[in-house]
This record gives sequence, C-alpha cells and structure tokens, in this order.
Amino acid sequence: MTVELNELIKAAMDARGKAYARYSNHPVGAAILADDGNIYAGCNVENAAYPLGFCAEANAIGNMVMGQGKAIRHIVIAGPGEHLCTPCGGCRQQIREFAGKAGAPVTIVDRTGAVLFETTSADLLPHSFGPENLSSEGKDHE
Ligand code: THU
Repeated sequence: MTVELNELIKAAMDARGKAYARYSNHPVGAAILADDGNIYAGCNVENAAYPLGFCAEANAIGNMVMGQGKAIRHIVIAGPGEHLCTPCGGCRQQIREFAGKAGAPVTIVDRTGAVLFETTSADLLPHSFGPENLSSEGKDHE
C-alpha cells in the first residue's frame, strides 16, 4: 500500500491535537513515512522547566525507532497557524540522522492541513554532519 501525502498530513494533524504545549500554546505535530512503509507520529511535549521540552519531530523519530522504522522517507510537520512551522535547528540535525546526507522530502502544513512549503532535509541543513563524518564505521549508517 502506498502512503498518500494526505494520510501523512492527517497523521501530523492528529498528533498536533495531542500536543502538550501549555507554556507556548504552540502545538505542533509531525508524521514520518518510514522505510518500513509505516507512519510514525509525534507531538511536542513541554515542561515547566522550559528548556526540557521536546519537539514534535524528535518524538516522531523516537516512535519510529521504537517501531520497525530505520529511515525517514518523508516527514510532514503541522504547525498551529498560517505561518511556516519549519523544524528548529536541533530537529534538522535529528532528521538528518535518519534521512541521510541525500535527505528526504519535508512538507510543512498549516492549521488547516494546507501545504505551505515543500523542501528537503538536505536543503534545510546543508553541508551536514552525520554518522559518516565520525569514522569509517559510520559508513554503515549511510
Ligand atoms: N516546536 C516543535 O515541536 N517543532 C517545530 O518544528 C518548531 C517548534 C515546538 C517547540 C515548543 O514546544 C513550541 O513548538 C514553541 O517553540
């Protein structure tokens, strides 16, 4: 079964609905289509100790790792408004780990699920650092 973009968008919006964003009031959802054909979603989870909050993308990646997924084929991020909710710098690095140097499509949708922006993880993080930059062993991950 081919996962359609609208399925991924719906998963990201559903995840956003579960966000724990009581401090920023900025709920975000992310949905990954992984190499195993499954969708893994996540929402942001904030904390009273503000810097300890987790982004939606990071939690979606955690769910992918806990499932059968080993690589990101596509990621959709659903922001809460009409503005672009592009992944933060830290999330770009986390996505890069599982999308590889060549990258994967990144689609940003707004509150209603309308596509605002389509790019790739490689374009969001040029000249990136990854496993293969650590040692020859890292080549296994590429
Ligand atoms: N946030 C995400 O979860 N993903 C993004 O792409 C951007 C920002 C979260 C972090 C924080 O909980 C809230 O949005 C406001 O920054």
